[in-house]
Order: sequence, then C-alpha cells, then structure tokens
Amino acid sequence: MNARLKFSDSLNLIKSFRTSGTITPSSRVLIKALLAPIDFGKARCIIELGPGNGCVTRAILGRMHADCVLICFEVNGDFISQLNSLGDSRLRVVNACASSIRTILDELEIADVDHIVSSLPLALIDDDIVQNILRSVSSNLREGGRFLQYQYSLNNYAELKPIFKAVKLDFTFRNMPPAFVYECIK
Ligand SMILES: C[S@@+](CC[C@H](N)C(=O)[O-])C[C@H]1O[C@@H](n2cnc3c(N)ncnc32)[C@H](O)[C@@H]1O
Repeated sequence: MNARLKFSDSLNLIKSFRTSGTITPSSRVLIKALLAPIDFGKARCIIELGPGNGCVTRAILGRMHADCVLICFEVNGDFISQLNSLGDSRLRVVNACASSIRTILDELEIADVDHIVSSLPLALIDDDIVQNILRSVSSNLREGGRFLQYQYSLNNYAELKPIFKAVKLDFTFRNMPPAFVYECIK
C-alpha cells in the first residue's frame, strides 16, 4: 500500500470515526496475530466483518486456498468500491451490517462458515446490535471454528466468554493504538 492511499484511508476513517473506531488501518503485526489461528489449507469459507480499506482482506486473500470464499460485511459505502477493486473472484463484498450473516449465507446457499475475522469497533456499537452480531456469529460458525476479533480494550471479554467453548487472549504493542486479539473457539 503506498503512502497516498494510506492517507486517504485515514481520512475516511477519521470522517467515519463513530463507526470505524480508529484513525489508522491495522498494522502488519496485528494482522498477523489476528490471522495466526486460521488453518488456511483447510478453510473453505471465511467471513470478514468491518473490512474498511481492505488491509486485513488482502492478507486473508493472500493466504487462503484457491477454493475458499471470503465474504466481507461493511456498512460504510465509501469502502465498498475499494474492496471490489481488489478484483479477486473468491471475494464477495456485501454492503450490510454484520448482524445479517444468515440472510447473506442463505442467498449464497452456504450452510456455515469455518472462521469469522472481525475488526468491528464493538465498544462503540450499541449493546443490542452487539448482541445480535455475536448471536449471528456464533450460530453460523461451524463446530471448532474461530471468531477472531481485535479490540483496544477488554470491554467485550465478559460477553464473549459465555458464548464460546474457550476464549484466548493475545496483545500487541505494535499497532496504533496497541490492541488485544481474541481467539474465540466454538
Ligand atoms: C476499525 S475499522 C477496520 C478497518 C480495517 N479492517 C483495519 O483493521 O484497519 C472498522 C470497520 O467496521 C465497519 N463497521 C462498523 N460497524 C459495522 C457493522 N455493524 N457491520 C459491518 N461493518 C461495520 C466500519 O465501517 C469500519 O470500516
């Protein structure tokens, strides 16, 4: 990614701070930690929630199998054409809220998904919407699938714990701001 693109991405994130929750795209170190639990050789369907400028999307596409599909849910229309311009036939970009996973999977005739990767700013989203999103995540993940989420605080740890069999925590300083990474196992 060149410096000009990064600047325009940051401008978009600043403009939409209430829904993006940040002013800079995630660092390579954070993205590596977020994706580390995924067995890309086996995964055939991955969902990404809140792809924004596509920095995590590109990393997933770069690692995933030729037969794997990646479905991205993004509410900010300004990012949709940028994501579509990645031009990868394995990628489906949906301009919809993360709580509508089941509707989109039904349209695509997909029963369940291997992993869900999320950059959603959960701490800034209304509680009832967060509850809908987490229900939608857990009911559409296959047994043993991972919900991978980063956050700048531990605000949602208590909500995630009872939904999943196990919740592991990692932390990286090498992001602006430093971030926690949750690995939630269904
Ligand atoms: C912190 S940005 C993440 C951008 C990029 N993935 C990264 O890690 O740098 C969060 C993104 O989540 C999107 N978002 C917020 N609420 C959402 C929702 N309910 N459903 C889908 N996307 C949402 C925002 O529009 C924003 O692009």
